[in-house]
Amino acid sequence: MITALVDITEDFPILKRQIHGHRLIYLDSAATSQKPQSVIDVLNHYYETTNANVLRSVHTLAEESTLALENAREKIAQFIHATSPREVIFTRGTTESLNTIARAWGDKFFGPGDEIVLSPMEHHSNLIPWQQLAKRTGGHLKFIELQSDGTITLDEVKRQITDRTRIVTLSAVSNVLGTINPVAEVARLAHQAGAIMVVDGAQSVPHQPTDVQAWGIDFLAFSGHKMLGPTGIGVLWGKEALLEAADPVVFGGEMIAYVDREDATWAELPAKFEGGTPHIAGAIGLGAAVDYLTAIGMPRVEEHSRILAEEAYARLANLNGVTVYGPPIPRTGVAAFNITGIHPHDVSQVLDSQGIAIRAGHHCAQPLMHWLDVGSTARASFYLYNSDRDIDALVDGIEVTKRYFNR
Ligand SMILES: Cc1ncc(COP(=O)(O)O)c(C=O)c1O
Repeated sequence: MITALVDITEDFPILKRQIHGHRLIYLDSAATSQKPQSVIDVLNHYYETTNANVLRSVHTLAEESTLALENAREKIAQFIHATSPREVIFTRGTTESLNTIARAWGDKFFGPGDEIVLSPMEHHSNLIPWQQLAKRTGGHLKFIELQSDGTITLDEVKRQITDRTRIVTLSAVSNVLGTINPVAEVARLAHQAGAIMVVDGAQSVPHQPTDVQAWGIDFLAFSGHKMLGPTGIGVLWGKEALLEAADPVVFGGEMIAYVDREDATWAELPAKFEGGTPHIAGAIGLGAAVDYLTAIGMPRVEEHSRILAEEAYARLANLNGVTVYGPPIPRTGVAAFNITGIHPHDVSQVLDSQGIAIRAGHHCAQPLMHWLDVGSTARASFYLYNSDRDIDALVDGIEVTKRYFNR
């Protein structure tokens, strides 16, 4: 066993499934992770015993439901080292969180001629909201050019930051290259220029300890479904002062302090940014996911994810006709690759026939595909229920695929 964790596959009922007569080998956790029984149980329990809307009624179920939601918020605040649960806003996921920052802070504080510095490895969710902000305001995007191995250097970051930079944004971990970006150092450079630092944590929060205070960042976005939680729930974390200064973007129930016919005032944080009924069960389920990860220990999860991603890179790069993208080390979570002469969708289909689930496509990172000079890639991604046995199966599956296409 090369991994840092004991075998926990028993906790994940879906991993008992057979696919085309083979044991399911799930290598698509960067798209969405599987869920442990404890998270599934919490969701069922909530709907069976507690279901009621939050923050409105004063009957027993409503009070229990509100308490459970706020407990989940508290756990998440601790998990990422927020200074207060008031800084934790529930959203539908990373995409909604990043769009909210661009609207709530961007529309108020970003103006004509201002600059956003970001990288070409960003997921579309951490690119298009900034493109749109720049278009709305007459601002500009500036790109941190990548090194040939798909990493960034602080010198290049410094080259792109100017006195017009208002926002610097980066994914902490790339969903294609597996690159682990130096967000704390970049945040320091951003602040020296008077800019804010926004981090896309979709692929980092599931895989490594997160300390927003140690990083010294201003906003963080992440998704529950990539870290053992339900779909449809995610988090926008922001420094309290910045959230206070920003304007809400979703208007309606529960986000107000007072409303008359002509105008309204806003509720305190976090309600100001949570207009409408939240995904209550989802948030409670995410709290259970955080409990599960915390019990295992994020430093162990981090070690496990890195060992698997680095091992996968080494094993795949050794195969004839296989190109693997991104740095060999350090990397985490994913290994994106191509087999010469075989389309990634065909690779994915032949692997699926052997029970192996990977993703093929542009991974919502088309500018990165252009930089790599490919249309798409195959991508295996790993999480705490994977082991070196799954990498063995992937390597064998790739050899079968090559033989199938006579490569
Ligand atoms: C780096 C990164 N950012 C953002 C997202 C978007 O996440 P969601 O679809 O959960 O909003 C993803 C999803 O794959 C991602 O990998």
